[in-house]
Parts: sequence; C-alpha cells; structure tokens
Amino acid sequence: MNTSKLIDGKAAAARVLAQVKADVQALKQAGVEPALAVILVGQDPASQVYVRNKILRAEEAGIRSLEYRLSADTSQALLLNLIGELNEDASVNGILLQLPLPAHIEETRALQAIAPGKDVDGFHSENVGGLSQGRDVLTPCTPSGCMQLLQDACGDLSGKHAVVIGRSNIVGKPMAALLLKAHCSVTVVHSRSVDAKALCRQADIVVAAVGRPRLIDAGWLKPGAVVIDVGINRIDDDGRSRLVGDVDFDSALPQVSAITPVPGGVGPMTIAFLMKNTVTAAVQQAHAQRSHLEALCHSIY
Ligand code: GUN
Repeated sequence: MNTSKLIDGKAAAARVLAQVKADVQALKQAGVEPALAVILVGQDPASQVYVRNKILRAEEAGIRSLEYRLSADTSQALLLNLIGELNEDASVNGILLQLPLPAHIEETRALQAIAPGKDVDGFHSENVGGLSQGRDVLTPCTPSGCMQLLQDACGDLSGKHAVVIGRSNIVGKPMAALLLKAHCSVTVVHSRSVDAKALCRQADIVVAAVGRPRLIDAGWLKPGAVVIDVGINRIDDDGRSRLVGDVDFDSALPQVSAITPVPGGVGPMTIAFLMKNTVTAAVQQAHAQRSHLEALCHSIY
C-alpha cells in the first residue's frame, strides 16, 4: 500500500492533545482548572465506548472530568435540571450531552438548555448561528478535526471546491460552514441530490459523512482529490465484524492524493477537539469572570 497518501489522524490528534496538555498545565499554574462534565443517558453500547474514551482522554490531558450516567428512563425534567445545575457551577467549563438520547427526550430542548459558553459540542443554536456568520465560537468537534487534517494536508484551502456528502447537524452542516469560512466553494450533496456522484467528481476535497459503508469508490473521485472519511460503519466481512468508512478505501486509494483511513483517521481527532474546546471554554470563562470583577471595581481603569 502507498502509505505516503495516508492522513494519519492518530498522529495529528496526538499533536493537538500534547498542546492541550501543555495549555492545561499553564492554566492550572494560573489558578484555572479546566473541567468537563459528560452526560450519558441510557446504555447505547457505542455511546458507552465514546464516553469512556472521552473521560480517559480528559484525564490524560489533566482536565478534570465529571461523569453522569443516567438510566434510559430518566425524565426530561431531571436531565434539564442537571444541565441547569452544571450551567450554574462555575467550576465546570464544558458540558457534553452524548447523543443519541432516548426517544422520550427532545434532543433540541436538551441541547438548547446547555449554556452556549459551556457548549463544547458547538450544537447550541447560538454557536451554530455564530459559526454560520463566520464568528469565532465553539464549533463541533468532528468537523473541526476534519478541518485540521485538511489544513495539514493541503495548507491554504482558499478557492478549493469542497463537496460534503451528508447534511447532519453533527457533521455535514457544520463542516460546510467551516469550509466556507476557510474560503472554499462548497457543495453539499445528500440523499435527494440529483447525480451526487457527478457533483462529487468535481471536488478537490471530499468529506464523506453519510453512514453508508463504502458508498464512495474511485468513480466518485477526481484524480488527485483529498478525501476525508468520517464514516464509521461496522460490517460483517465473511463472518468477521470490522469497521469501514463511507469510502471504499481500496478503490479510492490509487485515485486520490491523500485520504484518511478508517479507523485511525478522523476518529481520534473528534476527542482531541473536544479537549481543545474545553480549554477554550475555560479560558473564555476565566476572561469573562475577570471582566466581571473589573466592572464591579470602579477604582480600576
Ligand atoms: N454522538 C455521535 N457523535 C457525537 C458528538 O460529536 N457529540 C455528541 N454529544 N454526541 C455524539
């Protein structure tokens, strides 16, 4: 295999996490201890793995973590109450509500209850709106990680044609907004697109986030395209279970100039950017607190 084309997400995530760890140490010396609260409602097996990994990475980075594991029949009122308490708790900087939620809880209502400044997932409408206006707000972790990989692989993205496959709130839409902010021309293709394949073949950059195993093969790709595969699909391969992306890796590899593998591509970046967002939130809150104290003291100019 031509490994020179592989975008190494593990190495990129390790670089981000090393910087986060150094920042956390510096903040602690300055009297700020970043803390992340993670809430899991129910027992979705994949979510349990994600949450465990988030807590582990936080500990490794020196970030204090608080874990709330609530039973699947937890009422919406109880969840909103917990979020309200965490919003009020000045020692908590970031709140992550793991998705999906059980069907009886309104996802939008719960996500909107998180204080925008503590919304380390960047899912609150204030942050979504801020991103679409090109402001510096907390942005969703997976698309932020994809942007880092793209910038590492391509340098300046300005003027490139990026095609995002998928329009979810977690990946597709924020990904398109981040690419636009980086001055790309952006096309979003989805299940109702007419000839998604032909649109995709025009792209310099392809970000695949549809959740369809190995949908995108060489026929979808312009020679030399850079491909970021967000898909994590578990398939049965001759009786053995394994993970594959939304891109048919073996078919795509000869066609592309760079591509993320699955696993080991985008996956590790999501958690790294969650840690980065937690540090950003802690710094912004410390800054706001300082401004608030200064405003109270009329003798300070
Ligand atoms: N479930 C799948 N991806 C995500 C994510 O990025 N954040 C949260 N909170 N839940 C998820």
